[in-house]
Amino acid sequence: MKSPISSDLHARSEHNQSKPKLMFFGDPHGDLDPVIAAVERFQPEAIVLLGDIQARRPLHVELRPILDLTEIWFIHGNHDTDSDADYDNLWGSELATRNLHGRIVEIAGFKVAGLGGIFRSKVWDPRRPVEEAALASADALRRSMRPEERWRDGIARRHRSTIFPDEYLQLLRSPLADILVTHEAPAVHPHGWKAIDELAEMLGVQLVVHGHHHQNIDYVAEGLMTAAAPFRAFGVDMGSHLAWPLDPQEETGSGSPPRDLLDLAAQVFGAAAQAWLDKPHELLDGQTPEAFAAGGGSDKVRSMLNAIQHGGVV
Ligand SMILES: [Fe+2]
Repeated sequence: MKSPISSDLHARSEHNQSKPKLMFFGDPHGDLDPVIAAVERFQPEAIVLLGDIQARRPLHVELRPILDLTEIWFIHGNHDTDSDADYDNLWGSELATRNLHGRIVEIAGFKVAGLGGIFRSKVWDPRRPVEEAALASADALRRSMRPEERWRDGIARRHRSTIFPDEYLQLLRSPLADILVTHEAPAVHPHGWKAIDELAEMLGVQLVVHGHHHQNIDYVAEGLMTAAAPFRAFGVDMGSHLAWPLDPQEETGSGSPPRDLLDLAAQVFGAAAQAWLDKPHELLDGQTPEAFAAGGGSDKVRSMLNAIQHGGVV
C-alpha cells in the first residue's frame, strides 16, 4: 500500500516554492536528520512528530537546528517507553510540553487533537466498549501494581505509552477540532481501530494522520476510503512526511478540482453536481466551489459537501 505522497511532494513543493503550514513526520526511531532536512528545506509553520521518536539525546538537543525555524509538536509512540533513555529524552526534554496527547491545540491555524500511544488489552481492548475496559485510568493501574512492579513510584514504564480510557474519553468529549493525530491507525488500516474513527467523528475532524505502521498511505487515493467518508486519513512512513493542506497541484496536477471532490459532488447532488460547482457561494468569498477548490480550497469545499451529505445546512 505504498503511496507516492511523500516523494512526489518533495518535487512539487520544491517546484512551487510553497511553504506548508503543517508537516507531519512518521516515526523517527532515533533518526531525526530527515526531519531537520525537511524543515530547513520547506520551512513549514509547524511540525508534528507522529510518535516512536526515540531521540538519542534530549529532543530539544536533537532538534536544535530547527528550534527557531518552526513550531515543534509531537505525540508519543509505544517505543518511546522502551528504555529509560527513550523515555527521558522525550518526557525529560525541554520540548516535553509540546506533547499533544489527550488535548487539542491550535497550531498553524488548525485545531489539532492528539492521541499518542497504543491500545494494550491489559488496560483496554478497544474491540470492547470503553466502559468495559479492565482499567479506567493510570491511577487504577498503579493501585493494582505491587510496589516492586512500579517504575519511579508510578505505573510501569511500558504503560506510560498505553492509551487509558479516561484520557480517551476526555478527548472524545472535547470541543470540535480540525485534525486528529494518532499513533494507532483508524479502522481502515488492517491493524487499525474503530475507536480511532469514533474519536475522529466525535471531534468532527476533516483529517486523521497516523504513524506506527511505517507506511505512506493516502486511503482515498488507494481506494480504501471513499471521498464521502467523514474524514480523510493518511499514514506516514518513518523518514517521510505529509504536508497539510495538500498542494492543490498534488491532487490533480492540472489546477482543476481534485477528482475525489468531483466524485463527492456527484454523490451528493447527482446530475445537479456541476450546477452546484458553478454557482458562487457566500461561504467561499463569493467564488464558485469549483474555482475555490482549484485555488487550493478543496478541503473547505469537501467539508461543505460532507456537511450537506450528512444532513447539515450549508
Ligand atoms: Fe509504534
